[in-house]
Amino acid sequence: MKKIVVSTGAGMSAESGLSTFRDAGGLWDKYPVMEVASAEGFARNPALIHQFYNERRRELMKVEPNQGHKLLVELEKDYDVQIITQNVDNLHERAGSSKVLHLHGELMKIRSMRRDDRIYDLTPDNLETSTETLDKYGDHVRPHIVFFNEDVPNITRAIELAGEADIFVVIGTSLNVYPAASLLHFVKAGTPIYYIDPHPAHVEVPNLTVIAKKATEGVAELLGILSVRG
Ligand code: APR
Repeated sequence: MKKIVVSTGAGMSAESGLSTFRDAGGLWDKYPVMEVASAEGFARNPALIHQFYNERRRELMKVEPNQGHKLLVELEKDYDVQIITQNVDNLHERAGSSKVLHLHGELMKIRSMRRDDRIYDLTPDNLETSTETLDKYGDHVRPHIVFFNEDVPNITRAIELAGEADIFVVIGTSLNVYPAASLLHFVKAGTPIYYIDPHPAHVEVPNLTVIAKKATEGVAELLGILSVRG
């Protein structure tokens, strides 16, 4: 089976009703990003960060995967599909994608402040945390999110996966944030790249096809193209 690697950003979840970051009215219009999504912000005011992620988890519980997420699952019938997402929501998993690698962490997980390898799943009926929350070892916890100015532990694996792609697809990202935005430069020479975004960023790479549409329409168009070319 040919391997398709799909790199998704906030635009993938926009039609599910989750805000993007940099579109008008997006999250970074409402919150000072370095206050609520940076390591320094967390050190300065952890209560605000817990509150910010509690609110995003409550939002996530109200939405469902959209047709774009579901069509990427359909693709698994004919291709070995690997999702690499900048998104911290769990909509790819809830749609049924079987291989999802998160670059910036996961909203429905928290981890020990003392041991990075102690990671805990949150559930819909237990999704709020605070500076008072302790794990079973009595340690404080934090969102299992990669804050700005923190390392991206999964980037090495993501670069390997990009190099294995027979087809590389980018959906719903402004390509503003590195190292995630660099992934499309790690594909093998000659690999076709498709970029689905209604307002695509300008990107200079060979073998690029831009589908300037929303995710639900753009992924449907891509499936048409791929089934024709096989
Ligand atoms: N379908 C597809 N793409 C869409 C849609 C849609 N319905 N609506 C908006 N978009 C596109 C926008 O045109 C934009 O290019 O989604 C992209 C959203 O860009 P950003 O808000 O910058 O989100 P993203 O690229 O995922 O941000 C990367 O920045 O703040 C950090 O960690 C955060 O993971 C995030 C990273």
